[in-house]
Formats: sequence, structure tokens, C-alpha cells
Amino acid sequence: MKNWTQGWLVYGPKKVSGNDKFVEKISVLGFDKESIILQNAINELDNGITGMLSVKPEIVFDEQLTKGLCITKNKEIAAEGYDIEEKEGLVTLSASDENGLLYGMFELLRRISMEKPLTGIKVSEKPSNPFRMYNHWDNMDGSIERGYSGKSFFFENEEVVVNERTKDYCRLIASVGINAVVINNVNVVGPATHLITERYMDKVKKMTDLFAGYGIKLFLSLNFAAAIELGGPNSADPLDSEVINWWEQKIAEVYAKIPNLGGFLVKADSEGRPGPFTYGRTQADGANMLADIIKPYGGIIIWRCFVYNCQQDWRDYKTDRARAAYDNFIQMDGDYHDNVILQIKNGPMDFQVREPISPLLGGLKKTNQMLEVQVAQEYTGHQIDVCYLIPMFKEILSFKTYCAEENDTIADVISGRTLGNKNTGFAAVVNTGNDKNWTGNDLAGANFYGFGRLAYNTNLTAEKIAEEWIRQALSNDVEVVEKVLKILMESRTTYEKYTTPLGIGWMVTPHVHYGPSVDGYEYSRWGTYHRADHLGMGVDRTDKGTGYAQQYYEPNASMYNNMETCPEELLLFFHHVPYTYTLKSGKTLIQHIYDTHFEGVEEVETMIASWATLKDKVDEEIFAVVTERFNRQLLNAREWRDQVNTYFYRKSGIADEKGRKIY
Ligand code: GCU
Repeated sequence: MKNWTQGWLVYGPKKVSGNDKFVEKISVLGFDKESIILQNAINELDNGITGMLSVKPEIVFDEQLTKGLCITKNKEIAAEGYDIEEKEGLVTLSASDENGLLYGMFELLRRISMEKPLTGIKVSEKPSNPFRMYNHWDNMDGSIERGYSGKSFFFENEEVVVNERTKDYCRLIASVGINAVVINNVNVVGPATHLITERYMDKVKKMTDLFAGYGIKLFLSLNFAAAIELGGPNSADPLDSEVINWWEQKIAEVYAKIPNLGGFLVKADSEGRPGPFTYGRTQADGANMLADIIKPYGGIIIWRCFVYNCQQDWRDYKTDRARAAYDNFIQMDGDYHDNVILQIKNGPMDFQVREPISPLLGGLKKTNQMLEVQVAQEYTGHQIDVCYLIPMFKEILSFKTYCAEENDTIADVISGRTLGNKNTGFAAVVNTGNDKNWTGNDLAGANFYGFGRLAYNTNLTAEKIAEEWIRQALSNDVEVVEKVLKILMESRTTYEKYTTPLGIGWMVTPHVHYGPSVDGYEYSRWGTYHRADHLGMGVDRTDKGTGYAQQYYEPNASMYNNMETCPEELLLFFHHVPYTYTLKSGKTLIQHIYDTHFEGVEEVETMIASWATLKDKVDEEIFAVVTERFNRQLLNAREWRDQVNTYFYRKSGIADEKGRKIY
């Protein structure tokens, strides 16, 4: 017995008449029979159909059918895309490559799982983004940085683990179109530095090959100072010829053993990690050095832009962490080589529940860019609180940067449409671990599923993605679909209501990042302040403050700069606002804080009541796990409500108009 679930790939009996006739006989035409991806796809199809439709499909090669399912190679179809069409009893799935075939096959299984008919099906899909990537922050000792679902399934006791679960992981992420994965934490310390040495290379190769069978490229996070730690020159200066020679040899060694490695992800000069700044070199010097060496092997260097001063003095009102990514990377726009991709967090701070979009995205006009979001719920409830993040990701993607005359949204930038480049994409810090259900809270499975679907097709709506997940992972029952959909769709707004108001962020328990601590980071070195006093709160990031708003193109810069035109949900991110300031709702800021905090808790209570009615309609174990998480969420929400309301009542001395209990 496996001690892990199959997530949304649950192939139990499905009721929909007519689908069985398409899958009794399946023919594959034009694809290489020996291909592992093809074999994996066929196995999946076989298992899925047998489980869901009680039909054991007959699989043949190179035979043109008139009825049934034909999987055909068609060079006209876009890379990694697929077409599916039914005509007179014949379903044709066409793709130009094996990834497309695999994704098309999963689309068929998804339809069947959602009890949708294949009769009349006509779809044509191609990926929105070249790279669709999961970043694991897994450590070699099995712990996971910001992991809320148990331990790593990639590493245990400083060993690389490749087993049946690794394969199920590949199946899950391939089913939603993920084509690249970084298996180890961006903070590369201790034994993780040795992943590029003999000690681990056999195992890494084994994993890389397994991934390749599902169209997934494996990447490793790299320690920029590996040369020093692995007995090479005592330097990591990217312009030092000894250092360069060392990397040339190292990378040759790695690729001799693991020819299909995707490349490396690098966190340099960030939160104590080494980098080129130590040697007076630029970020581009560092990235290009590695990129040039890896280029002959077809490798990619993904270079993170999370570079900021984490030794700030809280008394300093001029230094602004929000400015850092832009300030550190914008001048070198155009200097990064073609196989470098800059990976940029969605917001200028750090994965808060509400942040503006990083002005570096689209700010760069000559550089490959990858958007980084966090599916792991570090600041959004640790997978205890439900927080469906796809609506937030949709907002990010649709943000209009004004970086070009057309094709200027974030979705355009990361798809390559803006600059006509191909080394671009969408990455997420993933929320998985070795918990039985992969994601701690089963409802967090919607994020694990949803990111992949969205990265593959950024036009999908958050509702559609949620519905797909619910139907496959929980049930096709109408009541389950409706109620869980409502819970998921409202969950982020609810979370936002009971935590920090109007984009200010933080106020969390330091280090742990769960639960309230309004002043937890207020007098710290991390650059994350709310600046509340007895009259008002918020950070002045206008031209009179830190000047952060001026990093945007017009008209965004002016919009944010002006308190009247600044989108209200970001008001406190950009402005220092009096508690008595009247919002568009007619409420004062302080009353808004009180009201939203009371509402947030009430909404959690409503969600819990709604979930409770589904007891007999969802799997018993899932019901119990989610219920237990909800109970903890309610305690958390109450704690946030009371601490935030009390704090601002005591600061401002202004009472709640409705006279509710504030301490
Ligand atoms: C956050 C997070 C860290 C992580 C860092 C990063 O600061 O708390 O754990 O290492 O982001 O993205 O590199």
C-alpha cells in the first residue's frame, strides 16, 4: 500500500455514457514506439481508462482507425501543444512532440474524470509559457524551507531519494503541464553544495531520467561559492580565470554524467548567500560567467533578483527594500546573455497576501524574465488556513505594465510575446511534502494543481481551474462543486481581511511567519515596516517618500503616487495615511480596519459551516483533515482580528463605531 494519495489523478468509476466507445481501441501513429514519454502516456491512459470506465483498451500502432482514439503526430501543431477533435465516432489527438501528446492525453483523462463527454470535443491548446517550473525548497536533511506538508520526498538523511513516489510526483505535475523542476532549496548549504559532485551524481542522473520520461527538465540550485567549498580556488570571483577554469571543468563533469540536466538556479548576494558583489562584480558578471560555460550543453542559468539589504536600520526612512530588485538589476538590462533568465518575485517585497507588481517585470526591456510566485503558503496561512492563490496570480498576470505599445501585461512579458524571446516563463515555490495528501491541507492541492494549469494556459480563469480540481480530487457532486468553489474563490479575500490591511503586509510572527505580531518586524533589520503612530500608518513610497512609485512606467507611476488614484487595496503600501482618512466606501481607515477584521472571522465561520455540510459527500479522511485545519484557521483568524484591532485602537484612541469588543 502506498502511503500517499494520487492527488487529483483519482481513477475511480465515472458515470458518463458514451465515453467508453472511444477508448476501446487506441492507435498511435507516427511517434517513436520506444519513447519513454509515449510509454508513460500509454500506461497512464490504460490505467485511467480501466479505472474510470471499466474498459481495458486495446492499444495498437500505426493503424488508421475509423472509430475509437487515434493519437497522431502532426508537425503543424505548436511545440508542447495538442489538438483533440471528435468526428463521427473517432477522436483524434494530434501533437508535434511527445510533451504535447502527454498533455493531450491528460486532457482526455481530465475530461473523463470530470464526467464530461468526449462526443463533440474540439480543443486546440498550446502552452502560454516556455518554462513552467516548480521550485522546491527542499534540504538534504529532509527538511523543507517554508514547507508545511511534512518532509521532503527528494532527500532524506543527506541522500537523494528516487522511488515510486518520485514517479507519482512526475505524473501529477506533468498532468498539469509543468516542464521544469528545481529539486533543492535556493539556499544551498552543506551537502547540497555537493549535488554537483560524484557523491550524488548517479542519483541525480537517475532522477533526471525519470523526470525526462514525463517531459520534465530537472534543474539544481547552485551555490555560487561552490569552488571554495569543493576544494577549488579560494574565490568565487566570476572574472577570475582560475574560478572560470574550475567551473568549466565542473560543468563538463556534470554534463558528461547528466547530459539532460536543465541547468541551474542561483540565489546570489541575497540573505547571506555568496555572490558576485563580494568581489566588486555585477550580477550580470556572475550570471554570464556560468551561462557561457553551460551554453554548449544547452543549459540555462536562472538568476534570482531577490537581492536587497537585509541589514537595514529601522530608523532609516530613505532606504526602501521595495526598491531593491529594480535598483539592483535595471542598469544591466541588455547585458545578460541569452541563456540567462532573471527570476523575479511577483511583488517588490516577499510574497505577501497583497503587494503591487514588481516594477522590474517589464521594466527590463532586453532581458529574459521569469515570474516567481509562491504556492507554498509562507505568508498566506501555512496550509492551515485555506487560501486559494490562483485569483492572485491572475491579477498579477493581467497587470498592464505599459512597457510596450502592445503585449505589455505581465503574462505577455513572461510568455515572450513582449520581447519575442523564448527563454522566459513562470515559476512557483511549491507547497508539497511527504504528507500523505502531498500538501498538508487537502484544499491546498488546488494551488498545487492550479499553478501548473495556469502556467500552461494563462487564459484559464481561477474558477475554471478550481472547478477542475474539485471535480477530480473531491467529487463531481454538484453540491460539493458549488460549495467548495465558493470557499476557494473567497478564501484569499477572507485571509486578507483578517490579516494586514490595504497592502501594508507583514505584522507576522517573526521567522515563523504564521500568526499576528503587529510590531514583530517593526524595529528589525528586514526593511518591512508599517510605520504606525497615533495619527496614521503606511509607508510613503511616493516622490516625497522613498520614490518607489517612480520605478513604474506612466501612467502607473502617477496613479500610485497620488493617494486619490492609488488603488485602495494598496493604499498603505504607497502612502502614509491618517486613520481618519475617508476611503471610497465612505468609511474611515480605522473603521475599515475594524470592519474587515470582524468580517474576516465571520467569513471563516461561514466557510466552516458550509464545509461541515459535505461530510457524507467527500472522502472521510479528506473531510477530517480539512475540518481540523479549519478549526485551527478559526483560532488564527480570531487572534489576528483581536491583535490588529486592539493594536490600532490603542494607537489611535478611536473607538469602533459599532461598539464591538476590542481589547
Ligand atoms: C523569503 C523566505 C526565505 C527564502 C527567501 C527566498 O525570505 O522567508 O525562507 O529563502 O524568501 O526567496 O530566497
